[in-house]
Amino acid sequence: MRTKFVAGNWKMYKTPSEAESLAKDLKERFSKPGRADIVVCPPFTALDRVSRVLSGTQLRLGAQDMHWEDQGAFTGKVSHDMLKDIGVQYVIIGHSEQRTYFHETNETVCKKTRKALETGLVPIVCVGETLEQREANKTEAIVQSHIEGAFQGLAKDLALGAIVAYEPVWAIGTGKTATPAQAQEVHAFIRDLVKKLYDADFSQQLRILYGGSVKPGNAAELFGLPDVDGGLIGGASLKGEDFAGIVAAAN
Ligand code: 13P
Repeated sequence: MRTKFVAGNWKMYKTPSEAESLAKDLKERFSKPGRADIVVCPPFTALDRVSRVLSGTQLRLGAQDMHWEDQGAFTGKVSHDMLKDIGVQYVIIGHSEQRTYFHETNETVCKKTRKALETGLVPIVCVGETLEQREANKTEAIVQSHIEGAFQGLAKDLALGAIVAYEPVWAIGTGKTATPAQAQEVHAFIRDLVKKLYDADFSQQLRILYGGSVKPGNAAELFGLPDVDGGLIGGASLKGEDFAGIVAAAN
């Protein structure tokens, strides 16, 4: 049985002070233990402040990206050590906004995924098609290229530490959630694909999250699907009440 997983991606929202307030609010709301794993991913500048607030709670900390090198002259980038030093345990890799606006490719996703896994961080690897690709019946081909790209050359022992998030680009921030049938179809496709790439054991263990306009009102139906193991939440993770409503659906 896979433990449900809900992560909030705060994107480029919340100053450190605002992030600290939201973290305090979440700490109150999640004071009782639940069954799902809960992670918040604030911007880099707020990670340390949020980490201090969440220390000792059931909430875990994630970053929104990282570089694949250990250190070096890479202006603007952060490394795995920098993240772990302040209590980060998870890192979002290959988000569609990184792929669309910042030249993230399957190759860089693979390097980041490998480095995260090798250094003890859990990568949340994002995959998903644009509306144009869906309408051209390319959803499976795109998702397959994202998955094969991210896991290229990774041995099962290492790859087992990863989490996958299916985020159809057309559903992100648009209010257009994938229907349960659409989500289940792609999640089942991903599970079948990793079974072919690795084996049945891997495919049964891999947690596959859905992301794209998840709200308290639609979370329970999505999380109840056989191959959906939780969600990666954008807009609705910025309000404590909404995020708590979504986590309640996972619990
Ligand atoms: P929304 O929940 O705002 O659609 O964003 C989803 C997302 O991109 C999470 O990474």
